[in-house]
Amino acid sequence: MSAIINGIDIRKVYKTRKVEYEALRGVSFSIEKGEFVALVGPSGSGKTTLLDIIGLLDNPTDGRLIIDGKDVSKLGENERADMRNKKIGFVFQSYNLISYLSTLENVELPLAAAGVPFWKRREKAIQVLSLIPGMLDFKDKRPNELSGGQQQRVAIARALVNDPDIIIADEPTANLDTVTGMAIVNLLKQLSVERNVTVVMATHDPDMIKKCDRIIHIRDGKIEGVETRSGQ
Ligand SMILES: Nc1ncnc2c1ncn2[C@@H]1O[C@H](COP(=O)(O)OP(=O)(O)OP(=O)(O)O)[C@@H](O)[C@H]1O
Ligand SMILES: [Mg+2]
Repeated sequence: MSAIINGIDIRKVYKTRKVEYEALRGVSFSIEKGEFVALVGPSGSGKTTLLDIIGLLDNPTDGRLIIDGKDVSKLGENERADMRNKKIGFVFQSYNLISYLSTLENVELPLAAAGVPFWKRREKAIQVLSLIPGMLDFKDKRPNELSGGQQQRVAIARALVNDPDIIIADEPTANLDTVTGMAIVNLLKQLSVERNVTVVMATHDPDMIKKCDRIIHIRDGKIEGVETRSGQ
């Protein structure tokens, strides 16, 4: 196996007008292709900060991030955006769907950002929605007509539509009941295995943690331990 994500001594300092806060204090890690990884730690420990950096939504203050052998820290803004649009899919706690767009239109959005021609987008969106049982039935519905679990399934379809190598998920089950949350974890896990997608997610959810190949424990902006599991 080869590392798809490599973090080397990553630091992040948030600066406001008066104070500086070091949210990541030298974090180094390596994630293999196809791994299902949980980022676990107390509130404020730096999970979202690290996911935003790995997902190329934010820059580290210091340190290096290597994705697929490319030193991302050295890329210009356009190249970073291009890499983010083509290689990375996102799933958030609050689904982040666009309220006035249908399921199908929400799923198509990343294709537009990645420059996929209009005529190919619908076909691709339908293809990915059909991977998720029952979701094609909801293709014309708006987010407010869907349950939380259904909205998160749409968000997962949206995250997958570009055939990303990496999915970043920030507490994807936090707003869901246990049974629905479990279904979402199983879906993410199944898709990650079938499509060899690397999934890195922040979670507090013990059911979710059980499904992971590796657990990275983070506290006060530092990695305090890494556990490897068989991942069931
Ligand atoms: N934009 C920002 N400006 C200033 N400080 C920030 C900013 N974003 C996060 N922080 C601080 O950085 C630290 C880490 O925040 P982060 O959101 O990464 O934590 P987290 O582990 O995701 O927490 P939670 O489990 O509550 O989501 C916190 O102390 C937070 O207050
Ligand atoms: Mg967070």
